[in-house]
Amino acid sequence: MNRRDFLGGASASVLASGMLPLLAQDREKNVSPDDTFSVGVIGPGSRGQELIRQLLRIRGVRIAAVCDIYEPRFAEVDQLAGSPVPRYKDYRHMLERKDLDAIVVATPLYLHAEHVNAALNSGRAVYGEKSMGFTPEDSLSILRTVSETGKIFQVGHQYRYAPWFQDAVQRVRDLQIGKVTQIVAYWNRNADWRRPVPEPKDERLINWRLYREYSGGLLTELGSHHIDVANWVLGEQPIDVIGVGSIAVYHDGREVDDNVQVIFGYSEGRRMTFTSMTSNSLMGEQLWIYGTSGSLQLTLEDATFYYEPRPIHAVNPHSEMMQHGVTTGASFRAQGEMPYRGPGTRLATASGDDPTLVACRSFVDCVRGKKQPLADVQIGYAAAIAAACANRSIQSGRKEIIPPAPAAG
Ligand SMILES: NC(=O)c1ccc[n+]([C@@H]2O[C@H](COP(=O)([O-])OP(=O)(O)OC[C@H]3O[C@@H](n4cnc5c(N)ncnc54)[C@H](O)[C@@H]3O)[C@@H](O)[C@H]2O)c1
Repeated sequence: MNRRDFLGGASASVLASGMLPLLAQDREKNVSPDDTFSVGVIGPGSRGQELIRQLLRIRGVRIAAVCDIYEPRFAEVDQLAGSPVPRYKDYRHMLERKDLDAIVVATPLYLHAEHVNAALNSGRAVYGEKSMGFTPEDSLSILRTVSETGKIFQVGHQYRYAPWFQDAVQRVRDLQIGKVTQIVAYWNRNADWRRPVPEPKDERLINWRLYREYSGGLLTELGSHHIDVANWVLGEQPIDVIGVGSIAVYHDGREVDDNVQVIFGYSEGRRMTFTSMTSNSLMGEQLWIYGTSGSLQLTLEDATFYYEPRPIHAVNPHSEMMQHGVTTGASFRAQGEMPYRGPGTRLATASGDDPTLVACRSFVDCVRGKKQPLADVQIGYAAAIAAACANRSIQSGRKEIIPPAPAAG
């Protein structure tokens, strides 16, 4: 049966939902009964379903159980999986099952620590979505549980698995753009972040991102990815942070800011600035890494290098000095310092598979082979604690010190 025939046979509700079960040809081949890898998913909402979609492409993976408190999710998962998936409203009952190899946690942020810790303590490997923990204490508790249980934990920072990120970051770490002291990241869009709510009683369940009780807003939802990249490039987590934010456009009852501007301090005076606004999409999502001899622009699709045309501290030649007096790089020159407008050098690295698929495949391999994941709990901790402290700074109006991860062991 080809895809067209299949679509012809699909029910109207499946088509209307836009969710189609995976076709046989989308899955990896050569499944033997021994390869079966059973996954339970807590929180199969938007991201959880994307993870299910990608996991189902991997050899031997089956979604063996799902847990959610919002009834419509169960039918959505059944449609994705192509057959009914055992369902639970209480994750504790799901974790009592003996046949689960791993648990995916994709619930709202404020529940991550509860669900990840319970799943690890039940003896399962866990793929936990970012931001790893809501509060610094939550992130610390996950760090401790991973250490105490010895179970595999991978955090949902899937860009760690993107070939163009890996190649570009390695080049930066090899000093291809000189000494990096500044990183400037934008995650801008022109959208209000609201989801439609069929029943008013479900407003906070569906739009949890907009309320401070459940969400860290733009910093945890978007910024944590960029903070992770900065940590990766600079080889450490930030030391301190100062930030501001406000609700400037969407006065609709939300509690989280619709724009934030935050500066993270790293050792040796290095800095990362994260800015996010939801009322203008010109800059989109992009992260700039500035070095003394070049710059790198990283996006969700590619990596482009730009090289500095000349040393920036040049003193003008003698003749010019005689005519106009001494001019240095610090002096004003009317025609100086225009932005560069030419093309950069785009990395030829193939983008490969979707980073989420690569991250899921790597997670399954790590669990099967008892190996440590690349995006491990330390990486999750470093990004999550920085995002949480940034929110504390916005709320307190003061610079916040970011506690380092406790020494392992
Ligand atoms: N890595 C990425 O690129 C990426 C992308 C999007 C979202 N995320 C993360 O994934 C997580 C979920 O985001 P989302 O957009 O899918 O949210 P969502 O609201 O679409 O899904 C969350 C699901 O959890 C369910 N839920 C709520 N309380 C529960 C409970 N007590 N027990 C069981 N289920 C419960 C909800 O009903 C919902 O189905 C967030 O942490 C988000 O930051 C990561």
